[in-house]
Amino acid sequence: MESLTISRTVPVLTNIFVFILLSGSSVAAKQSNIVFILTDDQDVALFGQYPMPKAKQLIADQGMTFMNMFVTSPLCCPSRSSILTGQYLHNHLVTNNSVTGNCSSVTWQKTSELNTFPTYLQANGYSTFFAGKYLNEYGFHQNGGVRHIPPGWDVWNGLVGNSVYYNYSLSANGVEEKHGQNYSQDYLTDVIHRKAVNYLQKQVNATRPFFMMLSTPACHAPFTPAPQYEKNFTNQQAPRTKHFNIHGKDKHWLVDQAVTPMPQDTINMIDDDFRNRWRTLLSVDDMVDDVVNTLKATGQLDNTYIFYSSDNGYHLGQFSLPFDKRQLYDFDIRVPLYVRGPGIKPNSTNEESVMSIDLAPTFLDLAGLHAPASFDGLSLTPIFTNQAHSFRDKVLVEYHGEHLNVIPGCPQYLNQGMANCGKHCVCEDAWNNTFACIRTQTAQESYKYCALQDNDNFVEVYDLKNDPYELVNIAKIASPDILTQLSQELADLSLCAGANCHTTPSFKVVGK
Ligand SMILES: *[C@@H]1O[C@H](CO)[C@@H](O)[C@H](O)[C@H]1NC(C)=O
Ligand SMILES: *[C@@H]1O[C@H](CO)[C@@H](O)[C@H](O)[C@H]1NC(C)=O
Ligand SMILES: *[C@@H]1O[C@H](CO)[C@@H](O)[C@H](O)[C@H]1NC(C)=O
Ligand SMILES: *[C@@H]1O[C@H](CO)[C@@H](O)[C@H](O)[C@H]1NC(C)=O
Ligand SMILES: *[C@@H]1O[C@H](CO)[C@@H](O)[C@H](O)[C@H]1NC(C)=O
Ligand SMILES: *[C@@H]1O[C@H](CO)[C@@H](O)[C@H](O)[C@H]1NC(C)=O
Ligand SMILES: *[C@@H]1O[C@H](CO)[C@@H](O)[C@H](O)[C@H]1NC(C)=O
Ligand SMILES: *[C@@H]1O[C@H](CO)[C@@H](O)[C@H](O)[C@H]1NC(C)=O
Repeated sequence: MESLTISRTVPVLTNIFVFILLSGSSVAAKQSNIVFILTDDQDVALFGQYPMPKAKQLIADQGMTFMNMFVTSPLCCPSRSSILTGQYLHNHLVTNNSVTGNCSSVTWQKTSELNTFPTYLQANGYSTFFAGKYLNEYGFHQNGGVRHIPPGWDVWNGLVGNSVYYNYSLSANGVEEKHGQNYSQDYLTDVIHRKAVNYLQKQVNATRPFFMMLSTPACHAPFTPAPQYEKNFTNQQAPRTKHFNIHGKDKHWLVDQAVTPMPQDTINMIDDDFRNRWRTLLSVDDMVDDVVNTLKATGQLDNTYIFYSSDNGYHLGQFSLPFDKRQLYDFDIRVPLYVRGPGIKPNSTNEESVMSIDLAPTFLDLAGLHAPASFDGLSLTPIFTNQAHSFRDKVLVEYHGEHLNVIPGCPQYLNQGMANCGKHCVCEDAWNNTFACIRTQTAQESYKYCALQDNDNFVEVYDLKNDPYELVNIAKIASPDILTQLSQELADLSLCAGANCHTTPSFKVVGK
């Protein structure tokens, strides 16, 4: 397997097939297995991979680390819907974490969910296994309850609702499995860990390849560490990055209302949350270790691709925003991506702009399947073998501001369209935190251009090559040519579907 090359035009399966014919073997070759580990809210900007030395050693050092991996939307349900469908938000139409925003709704079940990547893998011979958080509204009564098993999955262990560590229910193949708060039986990351190892051990003599998705609650709130890790990292504090505890003066309305400097109790909370986030990741690192060792012990490791990523980034005090995602800045849209597997050079890194919508077409490509026309993303396999030299020059990020009528403890915001208001009623979201951005990247330059849908039609523009921390909004000072070009490209990409979302540097602006 190691010597096989993967290329865009010749899918890996064809290579295996040709290899078998030529070598005259009568033994049926097994397609590669795929393991996909997806964490919740794990950042890159705040060194979110640091507490995971085993994942680094067993996945990154054995394969490729992507330095520029972005999500389509910095919020769980829209981002996860993109991962599953290979589509941008404007095509899957899951706009927020509520059922009214199509999150795991009956509408989603009747449309996009029928075309998620596992449906194609399963239809083409893969055994498919899922454990952990799926979509925030999964399993609730109005969405079909735990009896609804999303199509494409042979073994289904889906968490009802949003990430938690104790006191939850899983749908175990359509039957409710209740969990309380006994660490050794119920800690969700460890439950996923045990179910995964158990499944892998049973695959040892299987004739079908498998696809496994492990979707952990870590390191999402409520950041509950396992008891043995409650005291780790006591001397750590949240990184004082260049944008920590400063005021985003030239930024959109919501950022401008943050309080700078942040009060000491807010900073203490930020440091506590930071430590607890890292502590929850220690249990994920244990899971990675056991999964890789089980693959090795059962003789499956050499024929298995392992992907490691997250659904969105995170901020803790950047531009004085206490804690959340849901912003257009790189700290919220950038996530880790490690991949190891046959044909991928150990300890390699790649700088191309890649996206969460690329995962679905990559999984299909590795299985020897063509991506359906509905997929907006691109297969990463040419990058695995260093055959992609200009993969993508523009990333699109879309977000619809969440809002609530009543915010407990902050009566001044009654019916104002605000949300996620924490300590001192600093709000992290509002109806008008609705935006679309393009983030361009070529060898010469890198810009971010964001258009907010608010009363001011506010625009933020950053020259990322010279200002990677997005400190200076150049919307009012950049050259009109650049602004016109970027706004045109944003307008075009916001309407793209399928192949015309594949922007390579030769992509020409069309229309208008
Ligand atoms: C990868 O690099 C690390 C140093 O970061 C080194 O310890 C390790 O041996 C290398 N692994 C491989 C497989 O080359
Ligand atoms: C939900 O999805 C349906 C069908 O895809 C779409 O027509 C509708 O506009 C979506 N709702 C929202 C709030 O985006
Ligand atoms: C779990 O539920 C029990 C019973 O309702 C409650 O006492 C306990 O505080 C909950 N534990 C957690 C960690 O939420
Ligand atoms: C927790 O589960 C373990 C293993 O099943 C059991 O031995 C222990 O008694 C349980 N603890 C409590 C407090 O119920
Ligand atoms: C796999 O096959 C071997 C040889 O037939 C057998 O001894 C072993 O029990 C099987 N293992 C599983 C998990 O089915
Ligand atoms: C957690 O802290 C304990 C006690 O200091 C230490 O022994 C252990 O190595 C730490 N674990 C990790 C994974 O850092
Ligand atoms: C989600 O989107 C729907 C449709 O736009 C909207 O009605 C609902 O209020 C949104 N939910 C939140 C929490 O913002
Ligand atoms: C954004 O929404 C808030 C809450 O409704 C409002 O107070 C503020 O003026 C709005 N700002 C803009 C620029 O739309």
